[in-house]
Amino acid sequence: MAARSKVNTPSVKRVRSIIAGRRPRPVRIEPSTNPALLGDMVAEVELLGSAGIVAACRAARAVQSSWASTPAPRRARVIQQAGRLVEANKEALARLLTREIGKPYIESLGEVQEIIDQCDFFLGEGRRLYGQTVPSEMPSKQLFTFRVPVGVSLIITAGNFPVAVPSWYMIPAFVCGNTVVWKPAEYTPALADALASLFIKAGLPKGVLQVVHADGPATQAGLAAALEEGVVDKVGFTGSTAVGRAIGELCGRHLQTPCLELGGKNPLVVMPDADLDLAVEGALFSGFAFGGQRCTSLGTVFCHEAIHTQFVTKFAAALAAARLGDPTKDVLYGPLMNQRFFDRFIEYLDLVQPHHTIHGSDGTGRITRKNPRRGFVGNPATGLFVHPTIVDGVRPDDALYATETFGPIVGVGRFSTMDEAIELANGHGYGLSSAIYTQSPEHVFTFRQGVSAGMLSVNNSTAGAESHLPFGGNGKSGNGSRQSGMWVLDQFTRWQAMNWDYAGHLQRAQIDVQDVPADLTFRLDGDR
Ligand code: UN1
Repeated sequence: MAARSKVNTPSVKRVRSIIAGRRPRPVRIEPSTNPALLGDMVAEVELLGSAGIVAACRAARAVQSSWASTPAPRRARVIQQAGRLVEANKEALARLLTREIGKPYIESLGEVQEIIDQCDFFLGEGRRLYGQTVPSEMPSKQLFTFRVPVGVSLIITAGNFPVAVPSWYMIPAFVCGNTVVWKPAEYTPALADALASLFIKAGLPKGVLQVVHADGPATQAGLAAALEEGVVDKVGFTGSTAVGRAIGELCGRHLQTPCLELGGKNPLVVMPDADLDLAVEGALFSGFAFGGQRCTSLGTVFCHEAIHTQFVTKFAAALAAARLGDPTKDVLYGPLMNQRFFDRFIEYLDLVQPHHTIHGSDGTGRITRKNPRRGFVGNPATGLFVHPTIVDGVRPDDALYATETFGPIVGVGRFSTMDEAIELANGHGYGLSSAIYTQSPEHVFTFRQGVSAGMLSVNNSTAGAESHLPFGGNGKSGNGSRQSGMWVLDQFTRWQAMNWDYAGHLQRAQIDVQDVPADLTFRLDGDR
């Protein structure tokens, strides 16, 4: 009889890059396995070297001007059809998400919904994409602005939101008339292939979307070469701060501003007037849903000293009672996404110091038969399952305070004044998401003004931004670029200013402008 972790996968899907024209030879083949069921191989992917990135950028360059001259409403029609196709395939794509990265099925459905929401929003943008008519300072002259596509976009994305986050880039990029080379995470090839097929079946002309499977070093080398050759005009990157810095440096040398969405150490502040049960519910979801593997996941809860003990008691109890395990079932989280994230998470546990106290589970580290978690759903031996950990007593000089831990570990610290809370919320240098729990408008607005994060929730989770608000961060979380809604249009278009003079003779701006006669010596006299 086969062991429980072994699953029969007779023909494993082989995923290849999608490049219009000649595809370079792969440099290696990597498996993609189900992290909840390690015997289940989801796909094998052929990874290309740096030449793959360059070849795809060249091919994307070749069709960019014809895509840009396709009327925007027609470009948006492709997006509308992609939205319909994603909706019709919602469950299948969500099932694949759960299988390839272990995201709980309910959250997988949410992630797929985010693509549909983006399609709905940008469908309309194809019929807007407004420029302006602007009055001139001269007669017989008119001024205009136009949004112009940037060109070829290289989109490099992480695997924790392997279909939603790429869509945040690709959908507006296409509507605005850009072509895209997409480099998905190496550990989500089946999802990348599925999403690309949906877009292509929705009517994208050949070459408008290219998908290159490659590892990090090959991608960076390919990007450097493509920038040098002038076949890439815009980079969108979601991933770590360290890689974001390297990409920013490369792009800066070529006078390009990439769209960078990087890490976070998102704070959640609990004021003494907060509804504590609500704050616990928010902290549980923010910190532990999907195993804390969002860039918007909670880093540290900062509790006012008056409610600190009460909060920690309730938070620990809620976490201890949470269902973890098989991600196809109703659980708070399943496995970590893959071995690399699992290994790194185990290392992060070393950041726990003797002055900390830990809560929330029956152990720490990997969940096994010898290190069990009460109420675990399924068999922990089949996958990469870990205990959740609350670390109380976090201080600003702890490494844990400033390290993005990307996993089910949440710190708790304390403060006595709002100034201190703001200082703690900002002091690590990240600035992606944040939350405050309070009943007081004064607390809300004082915190809003002081917090450096690009996103702020009031009495709500740090994670789970609606997909049509500006998404992005400051400091170590990004370079100020924003995705989603109307704000992302500034990433994928550049403003072009046009003036049209039909006076029939040269009118010099600033010089030939008629002045308005006025008596500026006039004063109201005191008797009036
Ligand atoms: C990410 O982790 O990169 O706001 C994106 C959220 C999700 C997106 C997270 N809608 O938490």
